[in-house]
Amino acid sequence: MSAAFIVDAVRTPRARKKGRFAKIHPVDLFTYPLNEIVRRHNVDPSWVEDVLVGCVTQVGEQGWCVGRAAVLAAGWPFTVPATTINRLCGSGQQAVNFAAASIQAGQYNLVVAGGLEHMTRVPMFSDAGGEESLMLKHYHPDLVQQGLAAEILAQEFTVTREEADNFGYLSQVHAKRAHLEGRFKKSIVPIPYKDDSGNDHVLWHDDNPRHDASFETLQSLKPVFKEDGVITAGNASAIVDGAATVLLASEKALSEHNLKPRARIVSQAVVGSPPRIMLTGPIEASKQALSKANLLPHQIDVWEVNEAFAPVPLVAARALRIDQMKMNINGGGISLGHPLGATGAMLIGMAIDELERSQKRYALVTMCIGLGMGIATVLERV
Ligand SMILES: CC(C)(COP(=O)(O)OP(=O)(O)OC[C@H]1O[C@@H](n2cnc3c(N)ncnc32)[C@H](O)[C@@H]1OP(=O)(O)O)[C@@H](O)C(=O)NCCC(=O)NCCS
Repeated sequence: MSAAFIVDAVRTPRARKKGRFAKIHPVDLFTYPLNEIVRRHNVDPSWVEDVLVGCVTQVGEQGWCVGRAAVLAAGWPFTVPATTINRLCGSGQQAVNFAAASIQAGQYNLVVAGGLEHMTRVPMFSDAGGEESLMLKHYHPDLVQQGLAAEILAQEFTVTREEADNFGYLSQVHAKRAHLEGRFKKSIVPIPYKDDSGNDHVLWHDDNPRHDASFETLQSLKPVFKEDGVITAGNASAIVDGAATVLLASEKALSEHNLKPRARIVSQAVVGSPPRIMLTGPIEASKQALSKANLLPHQIDVWEVNEAFAPVPLVAARALRIDQMKMNINGGGISLGHPLGATGAMLIGMAIDELERSQKRYALVTMCIGLGMGIATVLERV
């Protein structure tokens, strides 16, 4: 098996919904990280054998194979193909994993993977309809949407409102520290945008975090999915717009194009989990990825467990005995936001940045996925 290396990972800032990216077409948004990842490494786009783009809501402006549209919109040669992948919230991570597997199988040498989700212009659930299937209802009559599944998870695994709010608060604290210390600077591509009066600006940092958040204000927010529930706007992932790319290469491509790798993909796993609770997939996916990597949880230095809702990383951390000082230490979906199809590619970049900052070796990125799935990737800094 050939090794799959990550040369670099870049991303747009995550912009709060209906905010700074509202006037930017999703395809145009994706062209920024697409062009930046090749520019930084003097890669001629014609060398790229495929572009794999994760995107969940593939309708309207994100329909029509948004990956291929973005390659053409970026001014790349028409000879570069692209595809768009939907593994719901795991889409961006799946794009990276598929790219890595293709390199490991010897089919590709140089690939761009990534993800895109413009949740303002193409709102979550605007592709709804599948849930009306009578057969689906027959086999899974208790299937609910993810917010209610988070309530079921909290109830069945005994996550209290206080624990969830405390996690939400820590997410804000971690994101604030990361921002103030410039920990995201390396990966972020600044995005030009126009305000309502047509004036030009540039967004160079994530604008969703609430730096003034306090535990007390979080405790005062009303549950959103269930009257006496646990999940509020302060401990659920925020709705934002964003895009990310990851450049992957085989050993052959590294030497042919004089590229320096930042990380190696060690292992990956994707699993199905009980659809009713929907959000426990990271546990089994992480176990399988760890087992393939021949590693134990304590050997992982940096954990990125997507903060879809606070109970998800809390329950995964308990089950996998994750040291919470190693988990999501630069914030996550609650504070930074969770641009569905883009998040996985962003988390992979964040994990590599953190491995380099802390001079550590292994990272594990994992996400829960709608309809009951989980995905995980183990990375090693090189
Ligand atoms: C939870 C959810 C419904 C909340 O939506 P919303 O009500 O539109 O959320 P907002 O971010 O606008 O927050 C509402 C209010 O809560 C308060 N609030 C939110 N986060 C806060 C925080 N950290 N501190 C203090 N107040 C906060 C604010 O008053 C805010 O109003 P403001 O923007 O005027 O300040 C939405 O974020 C959601 O659906 N998240 C999950 C997305 C999802 O399912 N993703 C897939 C995962 S599997």
